Amino acid sequence: MHIRILLVEDSPDDADLVIREIRRNGYNVFFEQIQSAGEMKKALAEKEWDAIICDYSLPQFDAIQALAVLHESRLDLPFIIVSGTISEENAVTALKAGAHDFLIKGKYARLGPAIVREMRDAEIRRGRKQAEAELKQRNAELERLYRASEGLFSGGLVDLPSLARTIVNTVLQEFQQSNCSLLLVNNETRELERIAVEGPYSEEVSKSNLSLDGPGLIAKAIRGGSVINIAEVSTEVDYVPNWEDAHSELVIPLKVGGDVIGALDVQSPEQGAFHEDDERLMTIFADRAAMALERTRLYEQTIRQLERLAALRVIDLAISNSFDLRLTLSTVLDQVVEQLRVNAASILLFKPETGRLEFALGRGFRTRGIEASSLRPGEGYAGAVALERRIVQIPNIIDVIEQFTRRQLLEGENFISYFGVPLITKGELKGVLEIFHRSSLKTDMEWLNFLDSLGWQTAIAVDNAMLFEKIQRSNFELGLAYDATIEGWSHAMDLRDKETEGHTRRVTEMTLKFARVMGVPESEITHVRRGALLHDIGKMGVPDSILLKPDKLTDEEWQVMRRHPQYAYDMLASITYLRPALDIPYCHHEKWDGTGYPRGLAGTQIPLTARLFAVVDVWDAITSDRPYRKKWSRQQALDYIREQSGKHFDPEVVGIFLREIVDWH
Ligand code: C2E
Ligand code: SIN
Ligand code: SIN
Ligand code: FE
Ligand code: FE
Repeated sequence: MHIRILLVEDSPDDADLVIREIRRNGYNVFFEQIQSAGEMKKALAEKEWDAIICDYSLPQFDAIQALAVLHESRLDLPFIIVSGTISEENAVTALKAGAHDFLIKGKYARLGPAIVREMRDAEIRRGRKQAEAELKQRNAELERLYRASEGLFSGGLVDLPSLARTIVNTVLQEFQQSNCSLLLVNNETRELERIAVEGPYSEEVSKSNLSLDGPGLIAKAIRGGSVINIAEVSTEVDYVPNWEDAHSELVIPLKVGGDVIGALDVQSPEQGAFHEDDERLMTIFADRAAMALERTRLYEQTIRQLERLAALRVIDLAISNSFDLRLTLSTVLDQVVEQLRVNAASILLFKPETGRLEFALGRGFRTRGIEASSLRPGEGYAGAVALERRIVQIPNIIDVIEQFTRRQLLEGENFISYFGVPLITKGELKGVLEIFHRSSLKTDMEWLNFLDSLGWQTAIAVDNAMLFEKIQRSNFELGLAYDATIEGWSHAMDLRDKETEGHTRRVTEMTLKFARVMGVPESEITHVRRGALLHDIGKMGVPDSILLKPDKLTDEEWQVMRRHPQYAYDMLASITYLRPALDIPYCHHEKWDGTGYPRGLAGTQIPLTARLFAVVDVWDAITSDRPYRKKWSRQQALDYIREQSGKHFDPEVVGIFLREIVDWH
């Protein structure tokens, strides 16, 4: 065993004795003898020592001073004092100053073992000190990391790409000169999507396409769920080169719960750039990063779903509020382009008259070529969608340009991806929804499901709108598009209800006069007129056997008869331009005291026009013949109206009616 001893001693004889004694114990000794503080400093700075043996007092130096020099050097070496005599007081002083042992000169038998023991103790002390230093450093690293990542994960919600960029940049602060990528697994395509990449060679790195099942260290780390730390990539069979200068690579899987959602990949141009410490630090960091990524991903997904739900709701509203086909389709296309994030979309409608799919409306096209679209089912891709009634997807139009029958129409559009969605409702083909994009489309299940929902909604919208157009065209049944139609219709009503002949026309005239006297604004007069004309339109739903009964109604018959205002509401409410005219048809049998029908409204809850109409309606009814009774005399009728004031009728309305209206007749 070799021992290197620094001997602080003035007497050459004593020095010789000490060294000889140690050698006698079987040690191979190298030593240097010094006598002053200066010499000691120099020796400690220039050479490595295993122990110091020091005479208690020298002419210009002593053990206490030597201990101070040793302390100053920050070295932890065994320090053994040898002395001719030493008082107990001096011994205590020396031990307090840091001496490890002392021996009396001449009694050197203990010297060898004492040195070895002290060397072992010093070794243990140094080991413990180093461990402490490492622990301190690790704590410092962790602290730095936590500080760096704090902003990252507590700073509110950001979008996924920004979060990924921040994560990658935080990693790069640790490893300058490296490239760092963050990759996430796409569970549907099993691709590893590089969400963020930074570093001096990020351009080169970002070119490679990786798959979960494919080669490469990243895929391997994700599949295995454990860290891969390679000192020299060129010796690795699993390595797929993507950056010429790469030498070492560290791949940390990003884990959430038991799942690996992706990986952080750091590549360095240095060999063995990543130490065990780095690995440990990065693993902790990656756990936090994975959690933040997952949270952001879930948040974005939720927002997307909410937006898509809202989009469906918008279309739903458009369908129920408008029978204008163009308006509805326009809403649909707005939502398609916005929510699916595509460049253009069009709707082709199937026209049974011609048996062809014809262009109806488009969004996002640069040219007007698409407008000339006219295809037989079976012709081209849209034709295939129609004939086979299934979604057709073309990832790259250029590959199949020959089969793309409308390629001339789409010149100058530079479309790459195409989707055709059949519009089917009640088993009938209504048309095709087409989607065009000028680069390849990244789709997932969620996207496709939403596309499917949009297809359903669009088909319903088209169906509703077409139905209404058909009705409008056939003019009579529900063709309420023009006032002429309304009048014709109410006249037909009167014809059905034979004995009330002229009732509708008379009450309408009287109501309009009354409304003007009551100060109803001119802008509302049109609606009042339509309302009066249509006031008993609900009787369309009452069978002849009840409506034309020449006798009192039974209870059951009354129940049916009393439904006529509700029928009117059901028929008219969906027609936008008749909605403001609903007050009279819906509310003309409500009574001031709340005993009327259909809703039992009372007082001013009943719209004013309905309150004044009720008086006119009853006046005209009782002064006319009915199948079940003769008409009343004028006086009887006047008495009745007056008597019903405050019961059936609004007293104020009755007052004005009696003063200003009834005399005109
Ligand atoms: P309508 O003939 O146009 O009558 C409108 C409203 O005028 C009636 O609403 C009622 O408030 C009043 N009215 C009409 N005739 C009389 C009457 O003889 N005596 C009194 N006190 N008030 C009268 P109401 O009662 O809600 O009836 C709604 C509709 O039901 C009537 O419209 C009519 O088409 C039908 N209806 C009412 N009573 C009978 C009945 O006894 N036999 C048959 N077949 N139909 C009836
Ligand atoms: C890459 O970083 O794109 C591939 C390197 C590898 O994991 O082999
Ligand atoms: C309606 O509620 O829309 C009908 C008119 C009314 O009673 O206010
Ligand atoms: Fe009525
Ligand atoms: Fe009436």
